[in-house]
Amino acid sequence: MTQTDGTGRHRAGQSRTYLMCPPDYFAVEYAINPWMNPGEPIDTVLAARQWRQLRDTFTRLGHTVRTIDPVPGLPDMVFAANGATVIGGRVLGARFRHPQRAAEGDAYLSWFARNGYPAVAPSSVNEGEGDIVFAGRVILAGHGYRTDPAVSRELEALFGLPVVSLRLVDPRFYHLDTALCVLGAGTVACYPGAFDDASRAALASLFPTLIEAKDEDAEVLGLNAVSDGRHVVLPAQAAGLAAQLADNGFEPVPVDVSEFRKSGGGPKCCTLEIRETRQSALAPAP
Ligand code: ARG
Repeated sequence: MTQTDGTGRHRAGQSRTYLMCPPDYFAVEYAINPWMNPGEPIDTVLAARQWRQLRDTFTRLGHTVRTIDPVPGLPDMVFAANGATVIGGRVLGARFRHPQRAAEGDAYLSWFARNGYPAVAPSSVNEGEGDIVFAGRVILAGHGYRTDPAVSRELEALFGLPVVSLRLVDPRFYHLDTALCVLGAGTVACYPGAFDDASRAALASLFPTLIEAKDEDAEVLGLNAVSDGRHVVLPAQAAGLAAQLADNGFEPVPVDVSEFRKSGGGPKCCTLEIRETRQSALAPAP
């Protein structure tokens, strides 16, 4: 899994393990972010097809996909990224900001416990990988809409990595993973307008290569992407971002998940990475 980018560097992908939740009960029944409109129906047949295509895309790229049983009455449980944070085989459970999603925390925590992972119950509000983004030598933690900045202490204690807090300031980008994607070693794509000045400065000093997404790509949730270090699975509508990624030596893999965007979600929201070992955890180190 290597290829050369325009500057002669090689991008190496690595096979990953992802947890996904089938969209059996997916719906927009309440509005907890600006994308959600309970009056606009979801095409559930199309959503199921788009979800299967996303799962099959991961498998085709050589990744392992595990699934958790969906729970009736939890229409957002399909957004597995929010269910936990897993680094080096250790699991921090999620605690949701809104009561409508609260029961998802236990559902994911018990999946990890049943599957043999040492899982830690959270004390601060944190919406898993929605706001907690592993970036190799550091963990990035978004706050402003959902996750409590106090989660930093829990993350440092459990995973033994420094945490950099980033403040989100645009309600359309209410989770960090809607505004930023770690692509590979030292390389991040982000939408600068989603962050306050101090957070933009922090990102610029942390990452040698910062790919800035344009408004039109951020507005189709183009940054809600999943990278294995080489392939980047991203919303098909984010054509400009796909071209920027290709210019930087990555291989964009477009998928259409338009039904999930009606809930404020994209490919990454549907995908929780299970980083089994310290080795796999360190793969995209900057
Ligand atoms: N409707 C869900 C919510 O507002 C979408 C969650 C998207 N997940 C994510 N990782 N960004 O909570």
